[in-house]
Amino acid sequence: MITPNLTGLLANLAGKRVMIVGDVMLDHYTFGAVTRISPEAPVPVVEVISEEYVLGGAGNVALNINALGGHATMLGVIGNDRDGETLSGILATNAVDTVLVHDDRRRTTRKTRIIAQNQQIVRVDRENSEALSPAVVGELLEYIARHGQHHDIVIVSDYGKGVVTRPIMDALRALKGSDGRRPRILVDPKPQNYDLYHDVDILTPNAKEAGEGAGLPCVWPNGPATVGQALFQRLNCRDLLITLGPQGMALFEGRDKARHIPTFARDVFDVTGAGDTVIATLALALAAGAELLDAAVLANHAAGIVVAQVGAATPTLEGLRQAVQERPAPPIAPLPGMG
Ligand SMILES: Nc1ncnc2c1ncn2[C@@H]1O[C@H](COP(=O)(O)OP(=O)(O)OP(=O)(O)O)[C@@H](O)[C@H]1O
Ligand SMILES: [Mg+2]
Repeated sequence: MITPNLTGLLANLAGKRVMIVGDVMLDHYTFGAVTRISPEAPVPVVEVISEEYVLGGAGNVALNINALGGHATMLGVIGNDRDGETLSGILATNAVDTVLVHDDRRRTTRKTRIIAQNQQIVRVDRENSEALSPAVVGELLEYIARHGQHHDIVIVSDYGKGVVTRPIMDALRALKGSDGRRPRILVDPKPQNYDLYHDVDILTPNAKEAGEGAGLPCVWPNGPATVGQALFQRLNCRDLLITLGPQGMALFEGRDKARHIPTFARDVFDVTGAGDTVIATLALALAAGAELLDAAVLANHAAGIVVAQVGAATPTLEGLRQAVQERPAPPIAPLPGMG
């Protein structure tokens, strides 16, 4: 009964405008082979066979939006360096509009994974996460004030690297579209920044992040209900979607009505980026006029697709259409532990 709805909804995703504000990152994969132990120290020597650059963090959310036919604008900060150029290049190749402010005092966030024999040997991070300079914040604020209202919806993708701050959140909350209403604000939170997210429309933490925000464990089956209530109390958000990994998701439509949507994933290879896919699909579906429950079910389908793929993958519109048509409607039930 839900399927015809969702199939119709898919046709409406095209061209919907989503602004993403957040921390962009470059994921760098180095694949190699280990044939010996170094004579210099007791560590393996990796001979590099290939390298790959992909987008992580907020940039991956933007790719998910465009992969589903939406029109993403990515607002973020990069350093004045080659990683910044690589990162902008990947966004441009994927037709994402970018407003990436250059900060001379920072380097572009890059995470290098060195992988040999299908095993990660080490991860090397290059990043700065201290406060942005006032000039950089000023440029972000100016863009938001001038162009923010032309988007159907705003995603805040906070990976705690410094883009998401109080002035930025205040500017987003202050937006007013031509109809007098502000674009809806969806937030993928970083626990250390919870106080910044009051009065937003929807928060999409995973279980761990939700638990940290509530100061309570978010353990299935009864944890999500309690944690949800604590988050509403703390943030006064309108709705809440807690993603629960293998348990799927808990959707709160306001604080009194909560449902459990089980995962649709059949094969799980790599859950990296599933949360990015959830918030991207949810936002695009809402921008297309979907009811929140339908948007969440669609996002759950999309997550089920990407967890079956390696790395931070993006779903395709066709893949999502197939999933919606072929998979049985999920048994959506009241969330355990509610009132
Ligand atoms: N192990 C799993 N089995 C089945 N489905 C999963 C699994 N992990 C994730 N999913 C699907 O992906 C969605 C989002 O996953 P999760 O709660 O892990 O988000 P996340 O921790 O924010 O992910 P990430 O930070 O890697 O982007 C879930 O709601 C579910 O639909
Ligand atoms: Mg996440």
